[in-house]
Amino acid sequence: MVEDELETTIKKLQKKIDDDEEQTYSKVVIREYRNPANFGVLKHPNAVGIIKGPCGDTMKISIEVIDGQIQDARFWTDGCGATLACGNMLTKTIIGKTLRAANKVNSKQLLDDLDGLPKEHDHCALLAVNALHEAINNYEIQEKVRV
Ligand code: FES
Repeated sequence: MVEDELETTIKKLQKKIDDDEEQTYSKVVIREYRNPANFGVLKHPNAVGIIKGPCGDTMKISIEVIDGQIQDARFWTDGCGATLACGNMLTKTIIGKTLRAANKVNSKQLLDDLDGLPKEHDHCALLAVNALHEAINNYEIQEKVRV
């Protein structure tokens, strides 16, 4: 009996959390942060970019590059759900792109791809994009040193 009441309460709470999420975030954002398939760090990345945002959260993007093209990418963050969505969408977007094309991806494009974020989370997209640009920059520095 007590277990049934507890289960009903948990279900109600979960429904309230889901309803609040759906009112706050787009369907795309919810899909991305509930299933962040690219979360993690590549085993043998060619370059990594790590940026800590003003909110105190960190984003790490690792990329594998072959012939100037991003073959694979992962992200890691200790940030909020919006940051998870940004990292996942961004890594999906850049896989298969040349470094030059990936370097042109900006936070506006990422926000558009996510169907927007609440204004107070716009900086999460900037954090992800800055970490990507840092990874590409680190890759290019390494390549110059090698030549
Ligand atoms: Fe810090 Fe999202 S709140 S990155």
